[in-house]
Amino acid sequence: MSVGIDEISFYTSNYFLDLRSLALAQQTDPDKYYVGIGQEKMGMAAPDEDIVTMAANAALPLVEAVGSERISTLMFATETGIDQSKAAGVYVHRLLGLNPNCRVVELKQACYSATAAIQMACALVARQPEQKVLVVASDVARYELNTPGEATQGCGAVAIMITANPRLVEIDPEVGNYTEDVMDFWRPNYRVTALVDGKYSTKIYLKSLKKAWEHFREASPLTFDDFSHFCYHLPFGRMAQKAHQQLAKLNKSGLDAGQLEQQIEDTLSYNRIIGNSYTASMYIGLTSLLENCGHNLAGKRIGFFSYGSGCVAEFFSGRVVEGYERHLHRDRHQQMLDARQEIGYEEYLELYRYPDPRDGEHLEIPASTRGRFRLAAISHHKREYIEC
Ligand code: CAA
Repeated sequence: MSVGIDEISFYTSNYFLDLRSLALAQQTDPDKYYVGIGQEKMGMAAPDEDIVTMAANAALPLVEAVGSERISTLMFATETGIDQSKAAGVYVHRLLGLNPNCRVVELKQACYSATAAIQMACALVARQPEQKVLVVASDVARYELNTPGEATQGCGAVAIMITANPRLVEIDPEVGNYTEDVMDFWRPNYRVTALVDGKYSTKIYLKSLKKAWEHFREASPLTFDDFSHFCYHLPFGRMAQKAHQQLAKLNKSGLDAGQLEQQIEDTLSYNRIIGNSYTASMYIGLTSLLENCGHNLAGKRIGFFSYGSGCVAEFFSGRVVEGYERHLHRDRHQQMLDARQEIGYEEYLELYRYPDPRDGEHLEIPASTRGRFRLAAISHHKREYIEC
């Protein structure tokens, strides 16, 4: 019996800022963003959108397809949690009308935790193959204004159904892990924006890739040449390109630069216009590959490198299932991306500075999102989510 990804769907905010507008306001060359970091647009959450509404919107088509009764566990991965205690997934559980006997939990380790959730979900399904485990990963990436990280903001959520005999990607049991206590990117409880040692974070990302790959090679018979494509954690597109070049060099690959680029380029398309979605980003990258690759991927092996600052990293592998293309949500994703609205720099600043009440007062939030679920109010320290 194989276990893995049966269905995958993502969602992002209504609004986006073109990085040309950011560059203009900052008097920076737009090519620094378009070429240097490999990003074009960044998603900007409306006041009535957050990790819960994005996650529920991402998961809706999966729950509609499988039926709300059949999901035994919901795992919510995020590093931009909205509560220190209550799992964001409990709100999603209600919004999606899931079975009261479905267990819900939130997982955290920076951008890595969705991968932990997926491995745990695979273990649950391996033990009880009739289970369907829903993993959602949802984040809003925020840095201080006028910092190098600002252009790498973004937001998005992905929903992944883990089942036995999956229709999209079978996940292999062998993994390579690497953990080290470092301060490359973190967000203390009292801060809304992340702190980051940018250049250091890119070095630690690359070091973790090497270490996780070496560990993977001890566990798995697969070599670099066995993979047709690679999905990397995507803080920004250029990072994946650098990572892939390093991995190819480490393995003395005979592929030229163009061939190496082909192994990752289709994973970058969605991220390039959404921005960093932290826990969701690598899996939105996988969706981008499955939906945008011109070749039939059936039977091909994909390598995954998941990285969470702080840091925990994992390399694992999967095999694309025959007939996978019949079970994608390509049109829905394309319509959602096409319907987004561009905002100017001033509107971006307004959204960035939108009040975040902390005094328990009632705050009614105007309707902006085009999604099915929205944050309607925050009142007496409680967040009120509704279906539109
Ligand atoms: N035209 C073309 N390219 C240009 C250019 C221009 N006009 N101007 C600059 N560039 C190039 C630079 O040469 C550089 O290329 P290389 O990396 O190949 O040398 C690239 O654009 C970026 O320029 P800088 O190095 O000057 O950029 P910066 O220092 O201002 O910012 C950064 C880069 C530090 C990564 C910053 O974006 C940042 O802090 N980002 C947030 C942290 C992050 O994403 N880290 C990634 C690893 S951690 C992780 O993955 C977890 C996570 O999700 C956060």
